[in-house]
Amino acid sequence: MSNILLAVSGSVAIYKACDLASKLTQAGHKARVLMTEHATDLIHPQLFEAVTGEPAFSSEWGHQRKAAMDHIDLAKWGDLLLVAPCSADLIARFAQGLADDLVTTVALALPADKPRFLCPAMNPVMLEAPAVKRNLALLAKDGWRIKPPDIGNMACGDHGQGRLPEPTAIMEWIASAT
Ligand SMILES: Cc1cc2nc3c(=O)[nH]c(=O)nc-3n(C[C@H](O)[C@H](O)[C@H](O)COP(=O)(O)O)c2cc1C
Repeated sequence: MSNILLAVSGSVAIYKACDLASKLTQAGHKARVLMTEHATDLIHPQLFEAVTGEPAFSSEWGHQRKAAMDHIDLAKWGDLLLVAPCSADLIARFAQGLADDLVTTVALALPADKPRFLCPAMNPVMLEAPAVKRNLALLAKDGWRIKPPDIGNMACGDHGQGRLPEPTAIMEWIASAT
C-alpha cells in the first residue's frame, strides 16, 4: 500500500478524480490530494478530504498551510505523484520547472527516485497544439510517465482524444508500473 500524492488541476475531468481518490482509499492506499487554485474553483477541497480521510492541500501559505513547509513534508510523505487530470497549463508549468504553486513545488521537491505519473485531459484541439505536444515530450524525457488520454465525447461537445481515462484504468496503469 502506498502514500499517494494525487494532484488535480482546473479540468472538467476533475469530477472523475473524486472517484479516483475514493477508489485509491478503498484499495488501502493513503491519498493526499493537492489542488491548483483553479481546481478549487471547480471542487471544494472538503470533498476530497471526505473521500480520502486525509487532508487536502491547495496552498502552503497563510491559513491554508498545514505545516511550516508543506511542499517538503508532502514530498517526503508521498511514495509517488499522480497528476490526474493534468491541464495544458499545468503540463506547461511542470515542463518549465516552475514552482509557482503547491502542486508544482511538490513536483520539484519530490526525490528523483519517486515515480511521477501524469494523465493529460483537455479538448482534442488543445492536445494537438504544438506547445502541448512539445511540453509532454519534454516531461517524458525528464522521466514522467504519461498516460495517453482516451478518445470519446468531450464535455464541450467535441469528439476526439482528450478524455481522462476511467479511475480503474489509471489505477491498473500505476500498479503495473510500480
Ligand atoms: C469549466 C472549465 C473546464 C476546463 N477544463 C479544462 C481541461 O479539461 N483541460 C485543460 O487543459 N484546461 C481546462 N480548462 C482551462 C483551465 O482551467 C485553465 O487553463 C487554467 O488556467 C488551468 O489552471 P491550473 O492548471 O492551475 O489548474 C477549463 C476551464 C474551465 C472554466
